[in-house]
Amino acid sequence: MAKLIFENTGEDHTLEDNSPIAEACEEGGVPFACTEGICGTCVIEVVEGMENLTPFTQEEQDFLGEQNTERLACQCKIKGGCVKITF
Ligand code: FES
Repeated sequence: MAKLIFENTGEDHTLEDNSPIAEACEEGGVPFACTEGICGTCVIEVVEGMENLTPFTQEEQDFLGEQNTERLACQCKIKGGCVKITF
């Protein structure tokens, strides 16, 4: 099992390994629009555990440019372990 922690609200969600984080992020208050990696509405900042997320998708590379601490919540999955985000 994996854990997604929201630094800004103190909430945490337990997820299956290798599952998308979108639903938990939506429940946690992250806004979504296109859900296809195009609009950038769902951008989150990864505070800890970037290595526990799946690699950047083509959509994320196109939208975010340089790969740093930002991800698109509609695009990534959690591989396992713990990931802390803020938005
Ligand atoms: S909801 Fe549009 S990029 Fe994620």
